[in-house]
Amino acid sequence: MSEKAGRAPGRSQAGPHPLGGSADVLVGRGAPVTPIREYPDTTWADDGPTRGVEVLLESGAVLSFPQLPFVLTESERRFLDPRWADGKAKNISLRWGDGQALGDMRGAVGEGADLAALQAMIARYAEQSEAFALRLFPHYRGHLKRGNTSFRPVDVVGRETSWRKDDTRLHIDAFPSNPMHGTRLLRVFCNVNPAGRPREWRVGEPFEAHARRYLGSIARPVPGTAWLLEKTGITKRRRTEYDHVMLQLHDRAKADATFQQGSPQARVDFAPGTTWVVFSDQVLHAAMGGQHMMEQTFYLDVADQLHPEASPRGTLERLLGRELR
Ligand code: SIN
Ligand code: FE
Repeated sequence: MSEKAGRAPGRSQAGPHPLGGSADVLVGRGAPVTPIREYPDTTWADDGPTRGVEVLLESGAVLSFPQLPFVLTESERRFLDPRWADGKAKNISLRWGDGQALGDMRGAVGEGADLAALQAMIARYAEQSEAFALRLFPHYRGHLKRGNTSFRPVDVVGRETSWRKDDTRLHIDAFPSNPMHGTRLLRVFCNVNPAGRPREWRVGEPFEAHARRYLGSIARPVPGTAWLLEKTGITKRRRTEYDHVMLQLHDRAKADATFQQGSPQARVDFAPGTTWVVFSDQVLHAAMGGQHMMEQTFYLDVADQLHPEASPRGTLERLLGRELR
């Protein structure tokens, strides 16, 4: 295990990283950034070396596995092309209903047999990343709920979008229409680029520092708003005060050019064949470049964490001195 970013505050790094990684350019002198921890695993299966790393994940680290590729078959390589995406969604995704053996696929265009093969490829990623997550985090066994699986064959650069949807800006994940009520978003990413291109990320300051930055200026939700948003179908369920604060953090960070440019941050390149795992509702992140990536989302109730108090909800409640339900 090695730590690549989040160390040596204020040291600006150009050229090869002394620990052999590729995190460079630290800005925001003196302040810590999200740590990247590297592990040597070469298999998704149960006999890999890393397990029981809940505490690190819950503390807000990125767990990176540079030798853990998601291997495509010869015939699956044809899917590494944006022409399979329908152009409306930024991803091709599988949605898993309760007990469903194969998720429904959205966002793809093509002939029936090709689409079935594409669906099988994405489903294999879901199975492998789930087995992997349960090995890394045995405490979550029986509690991790599988969310969407996505394949992202579209180049990060050049996607047209609004500032709010612009994931090249540092943000924590929070969604206007999908209140989480504190439920955690655990994501397993894998770069499957065939041409050697890294997934280029920035990571930012730790969650608590980020919350402190904006919390004082976030007003309580206007009474009746949550009811109205749910009633009109703008939100899928009630937007709690927790969801309100998380969405405010997401929006304020993305809208704040000074924060985007000057806050503590580090560049991290995830090379092809790298898998990385984060709580994306906690880790400040931005995708700056790259193409062809797999992603699996899992949901986890705060109560099922090893240390619920380390969660964004626990942190916000401690800072505010009251419950956010
Ligand atoms: C994001 O979750 O903000 C984007 C991650 C990526 O596409 O690399
Ligand atoms: Fe995000």
